[in-house]
Amino acid sequence: MESRKVTFRIRRFNPKKDEKPYYKDYTIDVSKGMTILEALQYIKDNIDPTLAFRAFCRSAICGSCSVKINGYPKLACKTQVFNELDVYQTDTLTIEPIDNMEVIRDLIVDWDKAIGKMEKMRPYLIPDPQVVPDTLDEESKVYPEELKKYDSFTDCILCTTCFSVCTAVKHDENYGGPFGLARVYRFAVDPRDSLKKERSKVGYSFDMWNCVRCEKCADACPKHIAPVDGIMKLRGLSIEVGLKDNPGARHVMAFYKSLLESGMLNEVLLPLRTKGIKGVIENLPLGIKMILKGKAHSPIMKPIKEHETLLKVMKVAMEVE
Ligand code: SF4
Ligand code: SF4
Ligand code: FES
Repeated sequence: MESRKVTFRIRRFNPKKDEKPYYKDYTIDVSKGMTILEALQYIKDNIDPTLAFRAFCRSAICGSCSVKINGYPKLACKTQVFNELDVYQTDTLTIEPIDNMEVIRDLIVDWDKAIGKMEKMRPYLIPDPQVVPDTLDEESKVYPEELKKYDSFTDCILCTTCFSVCTAVKHDENYGGPFGLARVYRFAVDPRDSLKKERSKVGYSFDMWNCVRCEKCADACPKHIAPVDGIMKLRGLSIEVGLKDNPGARHVMAFYKSLLESGMLNEVLLPLRTKGIKGVIENLPLGIKMILKGKAHSPIMKPIKEHETLLKVMKVAMEVE
């Protein structure tokens, strides 16, 4: 069987005895088909029993083995070494703990912060007695078109990979995190749930409007889930339940109003409609620059030629949602 000599440069850190993290190289023979997790296990069994990492199922189900491979977070048990060598055109792979969580030891991070936030968001079904029968003899039906709204989010294995790459998590201690907020949305659109859209208030209190839509969570998820999509829809639900008096909701409404009025984004009125006079003052330097470069347009915009068609498309899109 084809095999290659591969060096694993592993970030080591034992807070009980190391002053700071350091990297240690382990060179081993890797055969085709071997996963990163199998390589780590080989190193632990045959070279260095002190190496610490977390893994259970070895089948991309338990979500415990996420590590950074050459800077990018992946499940170690799902990732084949040869594939990574081909991607990076190298015989050396750097393995590090994932970000945004404290390192307990070597490749093991503390999940408590990430999971603890989700726990506070009531991530479980609160049955609606009108819909869910109180006897096991009757079924509680969910129709395919209802399931479609939240199906993908039920595949989450709580690996915290999305949390580790999230820009908003990095900058906002209160931010709920991608998988937690996506789970709030998942239950908000579950027809059996008694809170339904009201759950969006929880998303609001966990700063869902601070998501910057960088899409890193969707890009990194090993289960191909897009938490950001759930968060965007949760924002929509929050507007529907009347949580409109905040910059995030006002910003969305300003975009919407612009399209309704002219079919184009009215960048002059956008700061005013989002943040009031404060927004105008904040954007004044940019506004002056735009005027000087001839890029500012009048706040009164004529509707575009295809405006009527656009309005029809918007109407259909709203109905589909
Ligand atoms: S899109 Fe939002 S939730 Fe996803 S990583 Fe970026 S900031 Fe975080
Ligand atoms: S959404 Fe994806 S990346 Fe995030 S915890 Fe769930 S499975 Fe992991
Ligand atoms: S060991 Fe369970 S997901 Fe990798």
